[in-house]
Amino acid sequence: MDHQAPPQVRVLDAADAAVPFLLQEVRALASGQESESNQRPLISFATGGTFTAFFRALDAEIKQGRITPTEFLGTHLDEYMGFEPERPGGMLHELSLRCPAMRDMLARGSFLPVPCHGAEGSLRAHEERIERAGGIKLQLLGIGRNGHIAFNEPGASLDEGFHVTTLAESTRVDAKARFVPDQPPRRAVTAGMKSILTAERIILCAFGADKAAAVTSMLQGEVNGTCPASALRMHKNALVLLDSAAASNLDAGAIAGAMH
Ligand code: F6R
Repeated sequence: MDHQAPPQVRVLDAADAAVPFLLQEVRALASGQESESNQRPLISFATGGTFTAFFRALDAEIKQGRITPTEFLGTHLDEYMGFEPERPGGMLHELSLRCPAMRDMLARGSFLPVPCHGAEGSLRAHEERIERAGGIKLQLLGIGRNGHIAFNEPGASLDEGFHVTTLAESTRVDAKARFVPDQPPRRAVTAGMKSILTAERIILCAFGADKAAAVTSMLQGEVNGTCPASALRMHKNALVLLDSAAASNLDAGAIAGAMH
């Protein structure tokens, strides 16, 4: 992956417009429209505020039978160190609250949890499970204000698999609300950039003015670990969905077209 191919960039009328678009991507994969193999496609989800509306809508789709959860496998990007699925504040706990169907998938073994204690052997075993499942077909991503994706903070290697990382101070500040009255953890287990870039298709969503600087570095800065999200420009099938506030610092040439 040494080439650069600018991701497609679309600016939405509003962040909510991403929801039906993302649901359609999941629906197409789950219904097998996109696949020649018999294997159930593996979809890797990002957590965080960016995807709250999407997860609620996904849960409703599943309840109404428009997406069948037995037709795909799920996984996620990252977990706070030592946070078991039932522990409030954790990523999997958040995912299960917003989309209880994911909790059922976890119970059935069709959701692959990130090993939250970070033991080396468990991380390699997790990567092998992903590989045996045929790799990640669709990777959803958010972006941190500092340009992180998953918990690959500025300065991260672009050539690492799942690993334990130390959270940047701005990431801990942004995570404060979910841990009150406690302090946010200092460490997390995360998919590395190498793992993320092996996904067949990547969709990154960024909404709000807080994300504008990170979005500009991602799409117009240097491709290196200073802005880990810039590594998306080494991927052949990446789409970036923005609202106008997140896109506000971009040069016009960086944007493929509006999506209504
Ligand atoms: C979470 C994750 C993070 C978030 C990012 C944006 O699984 O991978 O990289 O996507 O911190 O978080 P929100 O969406 O809360 O702004």
